Amino acid sequence: MTTLILLSLLLLSLHTCRPFNLTPICRSPLLHQQYERSTFLRSSSDTQNDIITLDSVILSVNSIASMGFKKVEEANTTSELEKVRLDYLGKKGEITQVMNMMRKLGKEEKKVLGASINEVKQKMEVVLTEKKDTVQEQELQAQMESERIDVTMPGIQNQGIGRRHPLSMIIERATDTFVKLGYDTVTELSDSPEIESDYYCFEALNCPPDHPARDMQDSFYLTDPDGPEETYMLRTHTSAVQIHQMEKRKPPFRIVAPGRVYRRDDIDATHSMIFHQIEILAIEEKGKLTLGDLKGTVEYFLQQMFGPTIEVQFRGSFFPFTEPSMEVDVKFNGKWLEVLGCGMVDPRVLEKAGIDPEKYGGFAAGFGAERFAMVIHGITDIREFYNGDARFLEQFPHFGDQGMTAFLEGRLAEKKEEKPIKEEAPKKQKNGAEPVAGGEIDISKLDIRVGTVVKAWKHEEAEKLYCEEIDIGEDEPRLICSGLVEHMSVEELRGRRVLVLANLKARKMVGVPSHGMVLCAFKDDDSQVKLVEPGEGAPNGARVTVEGYDGEPATENQILKKKMLDKIMPKLKVNGEGIVVWDGKPLATEEGGVVKSDMNGCSVG
Ligand code: DAH
Repeated sequence: MTTLILLSLLLLSLHTCRPFNLTPICRSPLLHQQYERSTFLRSSSDTQNDIITLDSVILSVNSIASMGFKKVEEANTTSELEKVRLDYLGKKGEITQVMNMMRKLGKEEKKVLGASINEVKQKMEVVLTEKKDTVQEQELQAQMESERIDVTMPGIQNQGIGRRHPLSMIIERATDTFVKLGYDTVTELSDSPEIESDYYCFEALNCPPDHPARDMQDSFYLTDPDGPEETYMLRTHTSAVQIHQMEKRKPPFRIVAPGRVYRRDDIDATHSMIFHQIEILAIEEKGKLTLGDLKGTVEYFLQQMFGPTIEVQFRGSFFPFTEPSMEVDVKFNGKWLEVLGCGMVDPRVLEKAGIDPEKYGGFAAGFGAERFAMVIHGITDIREFYNGDARFLEQFPHFGDQGMTAFLEGRLAEKKEEKPIKEEAPKKQKNGAEPVAGGEIDISKLDIRVGTVVKAWKHEEAEKLYCEEIDIGEDEPRLICSGLVEHMSVEELRGRRVLVLANLKARKMVGVPSHGMVLCAFKDDDSQVKLVEPGEGAPNGARVTVEGYDGEPATENQILKKKMLDKIMPKLKVNGEGIVVWDGKPLATEEGGVVKSDMNGCSVG
């Protein structure tokens, strides 16, 4: 009975199949041969009702297979091919089902049919694999085509793209610097919780009970600090992370932990109740990490933050958790600024955290991200960081940018170059020393030209600088940056007649190359700065000279290498009659006469 059903299913499937092509299977020499011999293989047990014959089964296999081969041909994707495979060769696939019919055949017939079906199956596998290779290749090609990038297309730069927050940039840069030195970053909430117990924040860090930070006025307590239970608070410093890490890790280890801290301060330009600190801790076998290692590490770190020429100074200080302790200053814009606290970890702290101070030792440091960002970017109000004004955020170059390096170099260089000129002048005079050795380096080494400011605008990145285009009789006007923002409006500058020091090496001023210097008279405390005035009749490009000094101007390199400005500028002054003089003799042009300024008695530079 089952056979009958199967047979009718088979016939039905033959019937429902669209016209099929027998070629693939008939081409199989083996199956063809067997098909011809099929008559004598007919089973003797066949009855009228039970008419499964080898011929009929082979016919079905032929038709099923040819349909399968057609489907393989038609499949265009790997998933379609997989479906064909399952439909024909899978456990419930059509060919597999035909195998089931073999039960009704005689032993010899089974053998022949089994072999034939196996051959068909193998052939189908081969065809499927071949097709799969082709399709996969096509799919890969199509994918590569769709992902093709035209590297010759022009780039898009700074067109409304977002900017990093200056604090994020500082935290990222600082953390990266330590990661490169082998420190692990600790930021997981469980390792660096903002809600801390008094124990982690103070006690384990060796802070005595009367330490000012423990005062109700200074910390945000979440539970009563005088109550019977464990006291909780918002952490006042990231040093608390040190204790968690000492408890958790086995030395040696080094960690860097950036995080938010809270202090109960009145908010003003330099204080915020929430700010960011970065903590480092390095623990090794006792004696391996010295104070020298700490100083070297801190110095390297500060160079990474402020640029390689930063000057660093260590001062002895006190922190309860380090002994000895130091505070560290950097010289920025001519001033020493405190930026960091550090020291060798106090053995009592190690002991409390379960590290044997006889066996291990190390150093720690901590600093505020806001302070770094304020110093580096010249930000004067800490509140600017948090008010989310996009115009504020757009101003800051990223550490990775070329602009940042130029920016830092410019900010470090600005005062470095100016200071010696102004400071050394009175010193030399007091000592009675001759500033110009042997009279060789005199005012004639400077190429001072009359010019007119044809364009002036505010420097985009430096608060104190104007950029000017000045016509000094050359083919193109010169681009010069001057720190005049605090001393005159841009309108006053536009169209002004000025004197330009024209043989100075171009210098990048916060990213803008400046090709010279505009001469000004200035009070020694910089409270007043004014442009000096060439005589009216002098055309653009006219050279300014001093009688008795008629040498040729020096080259840009000579000026730089021989530090000529240091030697020449101290003698450049406005005399009591409002005339600009060098060593007492007036600066003048042929057509315009003497150079003037109403800043009598002031220096010029
Ligand atoms: N935690 C200190 C503070 O908030 C900063 C500090 C100083 C951290 C010295 C240290 C250190 O790790 O060694 O002022």
